[in-house]
Amino acid sequence: MKELTITKQIQTEEDKQNQEILKNSGEIPLHIAIIMDGNGRWAKNKGSIRLHGHKVGVDSVRDITESCAQLGVKYLTLYAFSTENWGRPSTEVRGLMKLLVSSLRKEAENLNKNDIRLSTIGQLDRFPQSCQTELKEAIELTKDNNRLELCLALSYSGRWDITEAVKKIATHVKEGRLDPELINDQMIGDHLSTADVPDPDLIIRTSGEYRISNFLLWQLAYSELYITETYWPDFRRDELYEAIRSYQGRDRRFGKISISEDEKAGSSRLVNKKS
Ligand code: IPE
Ligand code: IPE
Ligand code: MG
Repeated sequence: MKELTITKQIQTEEDKQNQEILKNSGEIPLHIAIIMDGNGRWAKNKGSIRLHGHKVGVDSVRDITESCAQLGVKYLTLYAFSTENWGRPSTEVRGLMKLLVSSLRKEAENLNKNDIRLSTIGQLDRFPQSCQTELKEAIELTKDNNRLELCLALSYSGRWDITEAVKKIATHVKEGRLDPELINDQMIGDHLSTADVPDPDLIIRTSGEYRISNFLLWQLAYSELYITETYWPDFRRDELYEAIRSYQGRDRRFGKISISEDEKAGSSRLVNKKS
């Protein structure tokens, strides 16, 4: 497969080996979602302004995107700006918007060359026109790519997503096209902004906060959680591998019993049948 060139650094032999070991030691999550938190605290610790943390955070985005694509992760959803983040000081909000535009300008072509499809979820129409145009162009440019879908959650919140889905479903009912009795899990999922994407297998939150902060509330029902104290600008591929190793050691029961126990129960059922 073609070498990836998002970080513009040549992949070391050691990293290639680490990825091989990880791929052979268990399942690689199909969909990873990340709450990229701690940019401000990282900057403060360095005696710098918050925006500096956001800027270095973009380097982490590159490194994590590239390593996910190399590992064969198919969907990477990054929580970049929440609905509640509009409440931050206007200088920070403006700085983040500028950073988004400049990063997209720099990276769109690169994402395209690396067969990565860009998408977004959230209220894009709340963004300045320059951001919307840059995003639309990058999405259009990369729309036929297949290696990895990189989805940016922008002006996103889980409650907003569910509210919008409820409005759409209620409209179908009002217009007499839907019997409310037919509303089920599947239908609600199909009306969310993530309708075409499988639910995340693994969700990572950096900066040691034990909360979801209004991220993919519906979609996280059975995601495995991994929380690290590391601030986002310091979160790089080796820690991603750590998170995936932790994921590989989990027993995902989805409310049932573990497969090994089920096998045991199955064999004892057979024994019982014979006797
Ligand atoms: C995450 O880092 C980035 C955004 C929410 C945009 P923060 O800016 O929340 O950094 P902390 O949590 O204040 O350290
Ligand atoms: C969550 O981080 C949102 C993003 C990472 C975009 P916040 O910093 O906004 O969350 P809280 O305020 O700590 O819950
Ligand atoms: Mg934060």
